[in-house]
Amino acid sequence: MCGIIGYCGNSAAFKFLYEGLKRLEYRGYDSVGICIDGKVVKMKGHVDQLNKCDSKIKNSGNFGIGHTRWATHGAPSYINAHPHTSGYINIVHNGIIENYKEIKEVLTKKGYSFISQTDTEAAAHLINYYYKDDLKEAVLKACKELKGSYAIVAMCEKKNQLVAVRNESPLIVGRGKEGVHLASDISAIADKCDELFVLDNGEFALINGAEISFFDIFDKPIIKQAETVDKDYESVSKEGYDTFMEKEINEGAKSVKNTLEGYRDKYLPPKFLEGIKSIYFCACGTAYHACCYGKKLIERYVKIPCFSLIASEFKEPYTTDYSQSLFVFISQSGETADTLAAHTLAKKYGAKTLAVTNVSKSSLEDVADIVIKTRAGREYAVASTKAYLAQLGFCLYFTQVLCGLNNIPCDLTAEENLNKLYKAIDAAGKMSQTQSLAQIMLNNEHAYFLGRGMDFITASEASLKLKEITYIHSEAYPAGELKHGTLALIEKDTKVIAFLTQSELKEKMIGNISEVKARGAFVTLFTQFDNVDCGCDKILLPDLPDVYMPLIAIVPCQQLAFLVSVAKGLDCDKPRNLAKSVTVQ
Ligand code: M6R
Repeated sequence: MCGIIGYCGNSAAFKFLYEGLKRLEYRGYDSVGICIDGKVVKMKGHVDQLNKCDSKIKNSGNFGIGHTRWATHGAPSYINAHPHTSGYINIVHNGIIENYKEIKEVLTKKGYSFISQTDTEAAAHLINYYYKDDLKEAVLKACKELKGSYAIVAMCEKKNQLVAVRNESPLIVGRGKEGVHLASDISAIADKCDELFVLDNGEFALINGAEISFFDIFDKPIIKQAETVDKDYESVSKEGYDTFMEKEINEGAKSVKNTLEGYRDKYLPPKFLEGIKSIYFCACGTAYHACCYGKKLIERYVKIPCFSLIASEFKEPYTTDYSQSLFVFISQSGETADTLAAHTLAKKYGAKTLAVTNVSKSSLEDVADIVIKTRAGREYAVASTKAYLAQLGFCLYFTQVLCGLNNIPCDLTAEENLNKLYKAIDAAGKMSQTQSLAQIMLNNEHAYFLGRGMDFITASEASLKLKEITYIHSEAYPAGELKHGTLALIEKDTKVIAFLTQSELKEKMIGNISEVKARGAFVTLFTQFDNVDCGCDKILLPDLPDVYMPLIAIVPCQQLAFLVSVAKGLDCDKPRNLAKSVTVQ
C-alpha cells in the first residue's frame, strides 16, 4: 500500500510531486507528505491538503520526494506520515519492514530516538547510521539488514541525489524532458517520461541530477532496458459528475460492452485450455464475487469441477497437485498482494494461470501465463462498480469459450442477448425506487442481504458496497442458511433486502422471505418477476434470462450505497480505512 513519488530535474518539484501523488491516491490516502530540498511538509488527510503549503515550498527546490499513506504500523497522524527523517536523511517507503522492532532495539541502544509507531522510521535511522557522505552506500548497507517488502526512495539534504530501491513493492524510474521521475506506478509519471525503467527486486537506482544509474545489491552496475511509454493514459476527470463513483456506476453497461467486444475469436488460445480438468477462480473482495459468478456459470454450462477461492485463504498447507488445473485470478488492479501470493502458490503446485486484470502492466500481468483484459476503463473510486460488471462480462465470455471447446450449445454472448443486457444494465441504473430505498436505509444501523444461488452473489456484493462506503453494518446471507443461526438477529423493523431472480429457486426464496417477515423484518425485494407477491416492498428489475440477472440486479444496489453515502455526507470515493489497491497481505 502507499504511493511513492520522486522528482529530480530542472523545474520546481512541488508540481510534479503533487500531481503524481494525486494519481497514486488509490494506494492510500490517510496522510500525505513531501520533502523538497530537505524541507519536510506532512499532514493527516488526503493529498489535497498539500495545497496548504506556502508558496516558498511550492516554487522553490527542484528535487524532492513525496508519499501518500495507508496506515499499517501506527495510526494516520502527522508523526506517522512520511517522509521520515533521520539527520540529513529523508525517506519515503511502501511495504512492510518485518524486522523493524529488532532494528529499533539496536539503534535505540546506539542513541537514536524513535518518535513514530511506523516500521519506516527504523529504515530511516538505519540509513542515517550507515551514512558517511555516500547516500547509495548507506542505502545498500541498510537494505542488507532489512527484511520484508519495500520500495524506498531516500534523499539527503546535503546532495542533489535520490536513491531508490525495490524489494517486492513496485517502483518505477522514468526520464523526461524536465527531469527524472520516480513512482510506485507507471500511470503516475508516464505522461512526463520518454523512457521508463521498472526496478526488479534487489535493484537500486541512483539519480544524480539528470543521470540515472542502476546497481544490484552487491553494488555492481547493471544495464536496464527502457520500457516503451504508453502516453495514452486516461486523465483523472470526473467528466461533470461530483464523484468518481457516480460516474463509474453510470459506465457499467459501457464497461461490459467494451470488455466483451474486445474478445475476438480465439482471443483465449484453445491450446492453452487443453487438458484442463478443473478450474479455480481466485481473488479478493468484489473480484472474489465475480469469481463466484464464474464458478456458477461453469458449473451450470460446462459441468467440470470448479471452485472459487478467497485469495488470502489460499495458503499452504491447503494445496494439492494442480498440474491439471487452471487458476483464473481476477483483479481490477492486478496489484492485490493476496492475489499475487495465491498466484505464486498455484504456480508452485503446477497450475496453469490466467489473469483477468483491468489495469495495464500490472504485477499480476507480469507473472501469469496468459492475461485477459477487462475494458472497464480506469476505475478511481475505491468501491469497485464498473470493473465488477466487466469481470462478470469476462465470466460470460469465458464460459462461452469453454462451451465452444466442449461442443456444448451456449448463446451467452450471442449479440442479440448482449444488446438486451447492455440496455437492461443502463435501465437498472435509472430506477427511481432506489432513491426511496436510500431514504429508508439512511435510518438503519444494520441491514441483511439475502439471496439464493446466483442471488447470493449479488447479495454479497451489494452488502459489501453498502458497508464499504456508508459504514452501515450489513451482512449477506444465503437465504436458506438464515434459520441455522442468523435468524435470531431478525426482529421488528430489521431491514432486509432480498433478491429473487432465479426461477428455479422462486418457491424456496418466497418461503425464506416469509420467515423473516414473520419475525417483523422490513423487506424490500429486488426481482424481475412481476407476478411474485411476498407482501413486501418490491423493486421490479428489467427482465432478462436468469443467468444475466447478477449484472442487472447489482446496479441499483451500487446506486443505493452511493446515495446513502452522499446523504450521510461521506466521501464515497475515498471511504475511511481503505485503499483502492491493497498491496499488503
Ligand atoms: O484490484 P483488485 O480487484 O484485486 O481488488 C480486490 C479488492 O480489494 C476490491 O475488489 C475491494 O473489495 C473493493 N474495494 C470493493 O469495492
